[in-house]
Amino acid sequence: MLHIAIINGPNLNLLGTREPHIYGNQSFEQYFSALKARFPGIDLQYYQSNIEGELINLLHVCMGKVQGIILNAGAYTHTSIALADAVAAIGIPVVEVHISNVLSREEFRKTSFIASKCVGSISGLGMEGYALAVQYFAGKTA
Ligand code: DQA
Repeated sequence: MLHIAIINGPNLNLLGTREPHIYGNQSFEQYFSALKARFPGIDLQYYQSNIEGELINLLHVCMGKVQGIILNAGAYTHTSIALADAVAAIGIPVVEVHISNVLSREEFRKTSFIASKCVGSISGLGMEGYALAVQYFAGKTA
């Protein structure tokens, strides 16, 4: 069975109420239940932390346990070399996901320290970006 971890970073626990004009009205828990139902043959695990070091620990814990990681590092995307190093270190393919189109927003969101360590990035397709990343991993192992 394919094991995939979804790791969400800071402020993504507030999806559904946080700036809904940018991030929509759905909580991640709601989206995640529907996502699991869409991919019954895949073991999807979801983690969220607002703390940079905890996100790094979560990436480390994935070693030997999952074949793919979907990472929305939130604002740490634009600041964290430590998170980028962790992505590079673990030897598991990581897909970077952003709900909003980070390239159409403020200048500081145009830099991603993690992008070059990831297999690819999905940005601006809303929550559906997570499903597309799952499909990518499913297609790779099919
Ligand atoms: C985000 C984009 C980031 O710039 C922002 O800091 C977030 C969410 C997104 O999913 O669109 O927290 O990663």
